[in-house]
Amino acid sequence: MAIERTLILIKPDGVQRGLVGDIVSRFERTGMKIVGLKLMQMTNELAAQHYKDHVSKGFYAGLVKFMTSAPLVALCVEGPKAIENCRKLMGKTFCTDAQAGTIRGDLGVSRGLNLVHGSDGPEAAARELGLFFKPGELLEYSRAIDAWSWNDEDKV
Ligand code: RTP
Ligand code: MG
Repeated sequence: MAIERTLILIKPDGVQRGLVGDIVSRFERTGMKIVGLKLMQMTNELAAQHYKDHVSKGFYAGLVKFMTSAPLVALCVEGPKAIENCRKLMGKTFCTDAQAGTIRGDLGVSRGLNLVHGSDGPEAAARELGLFFKPGELLEYSRAIDAWSWNDEDKV
């Protein structure tokens, strides 16, 4: 089953710059489905859990300060190979390196102010979705366009 769920964050710079609609639209337009969405402010505790693998890195303190500085939008996106597909849409980590056509390449010019987060694998996606969403906040529903967005061949 290649239908996956992944955590996407529209980081505080994306919210402050009024890019929420644009960024959500980039994920939606692929045909993937939004099954969870909330505006929230990251606490230091949540940042410590979310970025636990980066705690020893030099950029960690600045990253936590940035991510907790203002509201962000958390999304759960579902679709075939959603984890990899979303990372592809986001582009390389730093906007300065990201290709045109990607969210970071088209909408950003900074290294660290890079607009979005996306889980980097199935384990991370499950762990991170559990941090940001309670079970009842992720919905299962069908859309009329689902049959035209992906089919049984995409599920294997
Ligand atoms: P993300 O987790 O945000 O989806 O991005 P990523 O996988 O491409 O990057 P990752 O290596 O997981 O780093 C997480 C975030 O930390 C900031 N960062 N700064 N100054 C630096 O060298 C540096 N390296 C990473 C970025 O905001 C990156 O998105
Ligand atoms: Mg990462």
